[in-house]
Amino acid sequence: MKITVVGAGHVGATTAQRLAQHQLGEEVVLIDIAEGIPQGKALDMYESTPVLGSDTRLIGTNDYKDTAGSAITVITAGQPRTPGMSRDDLLMANHKIVSGVTKNVMKHSPDTILIVVTNPLDVMCSVAFQNSGLPSDKVIGMAGILDSTRFRSFLALELNVSVKDVQALVLGGHGDSMVPLVRYTTVAGIPISELIPAKRIEEIVQRTRDGGIEIVNYLKTGSAYYAPAAGVAEMVESMFKNQHRVLPCSAHLNGEYGIDGIFIGVPCILGRNGLEKIIELKITDEEKAALKKSADHVKGVLDRLK
Ligand code: LAC
Repeated sequence: MKITVVGAGHVGATTAQRLAQHQLGEEVVLIDIAEGIPQGKALDMYESTPVLGSDTRLIGTNDYKDTAGSAITVITAGQPRTPGMSRDDLLMANHKIVSGVTKNVMKHSPDTILIVVTNPLDVMCSVAFQNSGLPSDKVIGMAGILDSTRFRSFLALELNVSVKDVQALVLGGHGDSMVPLVRYTTVAGIPISELIPAKRIEEIVQRTRDGGIEIVNYLKTGSAYYAPAAGVAEMVESMFKNQHRVLPCSAHLNGEYGIDGIFIGVPCILGRNGLEKIIELKITDEEKAALKKSADHVKGVLDRLK
């Protein structure tokens, strides 16, 4: 089983490294337009595999022919944010990149599953979907896992408990309008509202919403990549091992949650064939309104491409 990662920048390279480390894929192909970068990084990673005890082969290339027959393709190519930018400011530049990349990928791997990581995430999922001609269960965006893992890590810090025991659910677009569902967030099954005062929960929710820019403001030259790469690897693992994990991902909605024709973050079951099912939760009117606001925002950004 071959897995391709498009983009050998921080997110792409870290993703490839995680996949190789956990032997997710017999072969991991890292491709980029920059000559030498994917080759050098992939070779360096491959040389680490004897120490890691992983038999994944890593190949770096500038030629899409080498990606032929990929079961899963992760699209990380594109520009990252720098301080002062919103994810939506990347729209035009990354639209061009993701359209081109998708067409090239599809020429050589017509049956691949696409995992989209490039921002603005939910809109880039639509761009990849439209350019790929794939059915909607084969195009899935990574964002909800990132937003939830941030929320979970902040809650674990707050309560000084194991991150393993904190479960959280974040719906909506990957942006300021994301909808962390506090009601569905628990510590070993205990709702966080029993453990943390409401006002403090609100602050942690806000830190989660601002989680991306918090990192950008530290790094100055780019955005987060360790947590995003971990999110991608979790999605790949669920497909590769057919685990049927329930993970928050950006999926194409066909009327679920009263939303139609766009990608947005919802709980998804991922297995060997991609998106197996979208779980439709009962949500309160307030949560529904927040999700609608988030969907309207994603639609608005998507409309700018018309
Ligand atoms: C973030 C960017 C990468 O949330 O979307 O860190």
